[in-house]
Amino acid sequence: MTSLRPAPARTVETTADDAATRALLVRMAYGYMTSQAIHTAVRLRVPELLGDGERDSVELALLTGTHAPSLHRLLRALTAFGVLRETAPGRFANAPTGALLAPSAPGHLADITRLFCGQEFWSSWSRLTHSITTGEAAFDTVYGTDFYDHVARHPEFAQLFGDAMAANAAFEAPFVVAGFDFSPYRTLVDVGGGDGTLLAAILSAHPEGRGVVLETPAMAVQAREKLAAAGLAARAEVVPGDFFDQVPVGGEGYLLKSVLHNWDDERCVGILRRCREAMEETGTLLVVEPVLPDTARESVCVESAFSDLNMLVLTAGGFERTERQLRDIFTRAGFALESVSATIEATDFRVVRGRPVPR
Ligand SMILES: C[S@@+](CC[C@H](N)C(=O)[O-])C[C@H]1O[C@@H](n2cnc3c(N)ncnc32)[C@H](O)[C@@H]1O
Repeated sequence: MTSLRPAPARTVETTADDAATRALLVRMAYGYMTSQAIHTAVRLRVPELLGDGERDSVELALLTGTHAPSLHRLLRALTAFGVLRETAPGRFANAPTGALLAPSAPGHLADITRLFCGQEFWSSWSRLTHSITTGEAAFDTVYGTDFYDHVARHPEFAQLFGDAMAANAAFEAPFVVAGFDFSPYRTLVDVGGGDGTLLAAILSAHPEGRGVVLETPAMAVQAREKLAAAGLAARAEVVPGDFFDQVPVGGEGYLLKSVLHNWDDERCVGILRRCREAMEETGTLLVVEPVLPDTARESVCVESAFSDLNMLVLTAGGFERTERQLRDIFTRAGFALESVSATIEATDFRVVRGRPVPR
C-alpha cells in the first residue's frame, strides 16, 4: 500500500569541506583526462599554432585537420584547466602553461609531454596494478622486452626519449651548476650522460675543465653533436659504450645523474664497481638524484614519489632511493658515502658524494 505520509524533508549533510575534498579527489582521479587532453593538443601542434597570438577554433581545426566541434570541446576543456584562454567566444590563446608546450619556447615541455603521455608510458601505466601486484615492470609485459632494449631497437622512440631527457637536463643543468661546486674536478666522466647537456653546462662554467660522456652508441651521436655545437669538442670526448662493461679511466669525478634510479641494486652495484675500477683512489663519485626521506609524508616531493612509481612501471627494478639505500649500494661497490648536499634549487635532486674505500 502506498503511504500517504509526506516524504521527510531531505537535509543536505555535505559540508563545504566535504565538497572541497570531493572536488580535490575528482581532479586527482580524472588526472589522466587532463594529461591526454594536453598530449593531444601537443600532438596536434595547437600550442605551437597559437604561439603568442590567438586563433579561432574553426581556423585551428582547418590547420590541424580535425573535426571543428570536437576540437572546440578540447580547447574549452584546456581553457577550464588554465592551459589556454578563451579571449572572445570561439577564439583561443595560450595561457602561460600552454605557451610552455610550444617547441619554440625556451625550456618547453612539448617533448616531455609527448614522452610521458605518449603510447609507451601511457600503455605501461595502464598496467600499474600488474607492477604493484608482481613487482615487475609493466612495460615489459606490454612490449615484450625491457625499456632500454626497446629504446635501442626503435630509433624514433630513442630520439623522443633523448629529446625529452635533454629538455629536462637543459632546465636542470643551470641549477645543478649553481648549486654544487664542480671546480675541484678537472676531469669529469659523465656516466650515462645523455646528450651531454649537463657536461656542456659544467664545462662552460669551468673553462679549465675537461670531460667525457659515456653513453649508448645511439645517444653518443646526439652527445657529440650537442658538445660540438656548444664549442666544447676540444675539451669534451664522447665514448660510446656500456656502463655495465667498462667506464672510461682518468676522471677525477665520476658523475651519474638520473642513472642509478633506472636499475635494481645488483645492477647499480655493477655500474658503481665499473666506476670504482676506472678511478684513482683520490677520485670522487657524484650521484645526482632525488634522495627520498625514510618516512613517507606529504612533504615527499610529488615528482620524486611519482618518478619512483614510473621506475617501477617502466624499468628493470629501478627505484628512487633513500640515503640509507644509496649508502648500501655505495658500500657494496667499494665507496664510502661522504656527503649529501642540500636539495638543488628548482629540482628535487641532491648531490651525493662518495669516496673510494682503499683496496
Ligand atoms: C634517465 S637518462 C639520464 C641521462 C642524463 N644523465 C640526464 O640526467 O639527463 C639515463 C641514461 O643512461 C643511458 N644508458 C642506459 N643504459 C646504458 C648503458 N648500458 N651504458 C651507457 N649508458 C646507458 C641512457 O641512454 C640514458 O641517456
